Amino acid sequence: MHTYKIAVIPGDGIGKEVVPAAIEVLNAVAEKYGTFQFDWTYFPWGCDYYLEHGEMMPKDGIETLKQFDHIFLGAVGMPDLVPDHVSLWGLLIKIRREMKQSINVRPAKLLKGLESPLKHPNNFDITVVRENSEGEYSESGGRMHHGDDEIAIQNAVFTRKATERAMRYAFELAKKSRGHVTSATKSNGLTYSMPFWDEVFAEVKQDYPEIATAVNHIDALAAFFVMKPEAFDVIVASNLFGDILTDLGGAIMGSIGIAPAANLNIEREFPSMFEPVHGSAPDIAGLGVANPIGQIWTGKMMLDFLGYTDAGQLVLDAIESTLEAGVKTRDIGGSSNLEDVKNSILTYIEEA
Ligand code: NAI
Ligand code: MG
Repeated sequence: MHTYKIAVIPGDGIGKEVVPAAIEVLNAVAEKYGTFQFDWTYFPWGCDYYLEHGEMMPKDGIETLKQFDHIFLGAVGMPDLVPDHVSLWGLLIKIRREMKQSINVRPAKLLKGLESPLKHPNNFDITVVRENSEGEYSESGGRMHHGDDEIAIQNAVFTRKATERAMRYAFELAKKSRGHVTSATKSNGLTYSMPFWDEVFAEVKQDYPEIATAVNHIDALAAFFVMKPEAFDVIVASNLFGDILTDLGGAIMGSIGIAPAANLNIEREFPSMFEPVHGSAPDIAGLGVANPIGQIWTGKMMLDFLGYTDAGQLVLDAIESTLEAGVKTRDIGGSSNLEDVKNSILTYIEEA
């Protein structure tokens, strides 16, 4: 029996609701297989912690987290009480950076039983690989002067190492998928970073002659997500482009509430962090109506990363059969609450 030590950070808002639900599901799957189990340790870090202590997590928080195999996170943010740049950079982005979680993986797939807002969606199954350590989300820049003379400068930083790492990861994924990689660029508008991005992509693809490739500008790519999402397999994108594109990915699936994500340290030197795409959804927090599927599917991604792909598939099957049975929260057109959806998924797993 293998035991995985997982640090749990439910965070804020609906994170506190969807994380315990997903943990119940993961425990049920582990019990079903009987070859592994999880040892969960909860950390109350987030905006409540900030309001009490003046920081999002303790000073030694990163060192504490390093003692775990992985991190399972809900969402952070209480925008009315803590500015978003403080809450995100003080916890989420800090963990992603310090743990060198340089790859963010986000699938967007048409699920059985779920209605896409697209009128005639063909069966799409996309994996976006987002560079997660640099790019447009850099700490380089500054602000000067006030009033009419005010200036803000935000530098985008692209290193060969990080760019190549994201691209190679995308090509490796494509080998196990349908053999196609699309690079998201904008080299017609950004005259330094994106031509560099294109050059690295052209070099890296030489090492993968069996993989077909395409290069699309990000604006066109966003339009294609709506017009012909079935055209894509793996997409590699910079930090900002990947961030925006994956919200759209969640939207064409049916709701941001079902979109999963993984922040991976692919070298497995430090823990990886699994967190859904959605935020803390303050508008519905505490009502028990949040969709737990994004968090549960995120748990499936953790199972996959640990090597339990059969168990991961069981979770996805349970999600799809729940949707097909019409057990849906209101963000996807149903009237069920979080508890109903969780129970339906648990029942499927127990009976499988
Ligand atoms: P959000 O994702 O929290 O909410 C956007 C909309 O989607 C809301 O109407 C919300 O009710 C709905 N929604 C999101 N998840 C849902 C779910 N599981 N079930 C049903 N409906 C769901 O994004 P928003 O409103 O822009 O941000 C709210 C807070 O979350 C902010 O403080 C923001 O910075 C933070 N945030 C945190 C993220 C993270 O921790 N990874 C990611 C995105 C935002
Ligand atoms: Mg986002």
